[in-house]
Amino acid sequence: MGRTLIQGGIVVTAVDTYEADLAVVDGKIAAIFGPGAAPAITFDRTIDAKGKYVFPGGIDAHTHLDMPFGGTTSSDDFETGTLAAAYGGTTSIVDFAIQTKGDALRKGIDTWHAKAEGKAAIDYAFHMIMTDVNESTAAEMGTLVNEGVTSFKLFMAYPGVLYADDGMIFRAMQRAGEIGALICMHAENGIPIDILIAQAIAKGNTAPKYHALTRPQIAEAEGTHRAICLAEMAGSPVYIVHLSAARALEKVVEARDRGLPAYAETCPQYLFCSDDDLGREGEYGAFEGAKFVCTPPLRPKAMQEDLWRGLKTNDLQVVSTDHCPFCMKGQKELGRESFAKVPNGMPGIETRLYLLWDGGVRTGRISMNRFVEITSTAPAKIFGLYPHKGTIAVGADADLVVWDPNKKHVLSQKTLHMRVDYSPYEGQEVTGGASYVLSRGNVIIEDGKYVGKKGDGRFVKRSTFGL
Ligand code: URP
Ligand code: ZN
Ligand code: ZN
Ligand code: ZN
Repeated sequence: MGRTLIQGGIVVTAVDTYEADLAVVDGKIAAIFGPGAAPAITFDRTIDAKGKYVFPGGIDAHTHLDMPFGGTTSSDDFETGTLAAAYGGTTSIVDFAIQTKGDALRKGIDTWHAKAEGKAAIDYAFHMIMTDVNESTAAEMGTLVNEGVTSFKLFMAYPGVLYADDGMIFRAMQRAGEIGALICMHAENGIPIDILIAQAIAKGNTAPKYHALTRPQIAEAEGTHRAICLAEMAGSPVYIVHLSAARALEKVVEARDRGLPAYAETCPQYLFCSDDDLGREGEYGAFEGAKFVCTPPLRPKAMQEDLWRGLKTNDLQVVSTDHCPFCMKGQKELGRESFAKVPNGMPGIETRLYLLWDGGVRTGRISMNRFVEITSTAPAKIFGLYPHKGTIAVGADADLVVWDPNKKHVLSQKTLHMRVDYSPYEGQEVTGGASYVLSRGNVIIEDGKYVGKKGDGRFVKRSTFGL
């Protein structure tokens, strides 16, 4: 492992921007020196960061690797998905383990440990998706918290699949309040949505664009409001995942203004894509829009600015990806006959920092510090990874990105590393990219190449909710 000096870069954290040299010893940041102040001790390696920024590694708090869903399995596993994340400057993920209905949470978490063990390029942690909440699984929540799995996701959507009713949600929230866990909520009312879907199909409205038309934003606003009310009643914090709609954001703002521990993330697809993309025609004809089928659905373009404003004002705290890739061939194609059968999800684990730097920092929508905060510091704090991860400080893990703000590259399925046969951003040029990525002090990306070792990523135990 040894000693590495990262020299001459501009360190950017959520609060500071300054020139410094970083000494990395045995996987951790050992010292931060002002310009020219590094002592003449020998380092095994010096990385020249002149003209570059140095950020804490990205933390993606919402990924679905190797996940059975929609009649198939998400196409990236822990090997390909974490490798792609590393290329894009992300050094930790929190993936969603699933409890299969009727099974113990233990079985779900063990299954996810087995999926990840020995494969990951970067550190990883797990949330637990609960599909049954009863006294047995409620008790198990405490066991998982002790093992560092400190957040649980429940679904108001997908009736008959992952859906949980209000009683289950409320009970899980009560328990979370007792044990310092955080409930992540897919806040979208799936019951009326399923009726709208059946009605659309009965009318022959089966093209991808009907995915958005049958999941109106009010279903998300109502779910968000209900999740917040249930959490307030139960005395627990709540984190709304993949928030897409302005009216849902209003509910979060209202709760936060009342001082409730309510948090929300959005995802790049909601900032950069819109329901117009669902109506695209292309190499797959009128089925092209299937590339953009994710849940909640893409919204009208005008809503993107509401989300940007939320990010700027801290009404939204995090941008994570909801990376849930499915190939067009053999996977999205399952929904050729009906949008309702298109597996839901989009690829994004690799492109998050590129898009947010290019479309957020370079356009002046957010500052560099805010960029670091929403992609690393805030998710680290909310999900119990801070201060080991999420900042640049003495004693923190040396999960670092040396970022070249001028590096240009064209996003394309051919050059990105996610195991999926398309990119939603095909042909789009972005400026800014990682020159080096370090995971616990090891250089894993250098000159656009992976130089790490498969399996070096470790499971990280997270602490309880403490904001
Ligand atoms: O379309 C999505 N979001 N797929 C993944 C499952 C989920 O709801 O997060
Ligand atoms: Zn979800
Ligand atoms: Zn406010
Ligand atoms: Zn998701």
